[in-house]
Amino acid sequence: MNMELNADRAKLDPLETASVDELRHHQLARLRWSLAHAYENVPFYRQRFDALGLRPEHLASLDDLALFPFTAKSDLRDNYPYGLFAVPQRDIVRLHASSGTTGKPTVVGYTQHDIDTWAGLVARSIRAGGGRKGDKVHIAYGYGLFTGGLGAHYGAERLGCTVIPMSGGQTEKQVQLIRDLQPDIIMVTPSYMLNLADEIERQGVDPRSLSLRLGIFGAEPWTDALRQAVQARMGITALDIYGLSEIMGPGVAMECLETQDGPTVWEDHFYPEIIDPITGAVLPDGQYGELVFTTLSKEALPMIRYRTRDLTRLLPGTARPMRRIEKITGRSDDMLIVRGVNVFPTQIEELVLKTKQLTELYEIHLYRDGNLDHMDVHVEFRPEQAPTDDNTEQRVALDLARRIKTYVGISVQVRVQPCLSLKRSEGKACHVFDRRSSRDSLLT
Ligand code: DLL
Repeated sequence: MNMELNADRAKLDPLETASVDELRHHQLARLRWSLAHAYENVPFYRQRFDALGLRPEHLASLDDLALFPFTAKSDLRDNYPYGLFAVPQRDIVRLHASSGTTGKPTVVGYTQHDIDTWAGLVARSIRAGGGRKGDKVHIAYGYGLFTGGLGAHYGAERLGCTVIPMSGGQTEKQVQLIRDLQPDIIMVTPSYMLNLADEIERQGVDPRSLSLRLGIFGAEPWTDALRQAVQARMGITALDIYGLSEIMGPGVAMECLETQDGPTVWEDHFYPEIIDPITGAVLPDGQYGELVFTTLSKEALPMIRYRTRDLTRLLPGTARPMRRIEKITGRSDDMLIVRGVNVFPTQIEELVLKTKQLTELYEIHLYRDGNLDHMDVHVEFRPEQAPTDDNTEQRVALDLARRIKTYVGISVQVRVQPCLSLKRSEGKACHVFDRRSSRDSLLT
């Protein structure tokens, strides 16, 4: 290891490089604290634990966590807005909320200590991605009730970066500012990055000629195929940041620059488990299932065994001793069942990205005709690939439909639309329009 790298590692948090044994020891102590904190201060947890005859002190080893009950998003909704908070309101310095697709939002809160921890973990995340003090960071995650903007902002400031707090939207202005202020790093959803890339090109600029060297992308599922496409188009390294409001916000896990092999979970603050989504049984590392987190340091809103609905698996540490998650390409809520076949939107994304005539955008439209479900996939020609005749259009559509049939196992109609006709994302992309029931569900 060269001297610069050695000096760099010396600046990491001690627990980031602790041995696995030290880490497990730390986690057990923190878990005991978190269970006790929840039990003593949140009636919901007290009732749940009591009903099972459980007390926080029954946790003798990390494996004992499996004895404790899960918490689900519906528990937050049922206790809306503040029912799961563990500290008095005067100690809450910030609220965020996630919109959800139906009904009430879920509200999350932070003490000053929680905000400090969060900023520290986002700073650690940016640093793990290769960001350093003095880097200019353009933040295009939305500011407001969404945790993306402010979460990224406080972390980037904590690292000593120069923050450009752009928020989402105003795409033309975003690009102007990127051209003028010359940021090194952009933090944005991958789908909005594509929109920005279109606008950069529309302004007659080669995206690869810009100052950006690193993109920290998250808040929605995206595939490795999209990573390759964005890296090639933008001339940057694209890394994956993961998080969710209920657990903290961005910075629960982050991919490290040196390995780029899936986000490292910041296990000193969040204890991960993978469970069988049907039975709830804990699965061994390496097996696919639903990701579950228990917070280890959160004061305002401790979460015990929170079911994220994100599907992935735990992998051994590489750049850090802490475990990684495999890139999340789907949530159980995103899974579409069409004529008995399970389909994840990201499976369609991969195949669209393999079609060189098409842009990275796609929409999945589901509807019912009689008793039969139908799925249409709308895609779009690249500007330089505008079809010269109807045959080209038909050929591309049929070819993509054939590959979807082969690899996903479902017959679909593909509609290839003219350039720039699909709706662009300004935050989290909406890929699915499900009209099978009367509700137009915005699933992704
Ligand atoms: O999306 C927090 C965040 C902001 C993460 C900015 C990263 C960057 P929520 O709005 O509560 O919070 O949505 C959380 O988004 O359960 C996942 O399904 C999805 N998600 C977040 N990051 C990733 C990612 C923020 N890197 C939900 N890959 C989570 C795949 C992601 N899905």
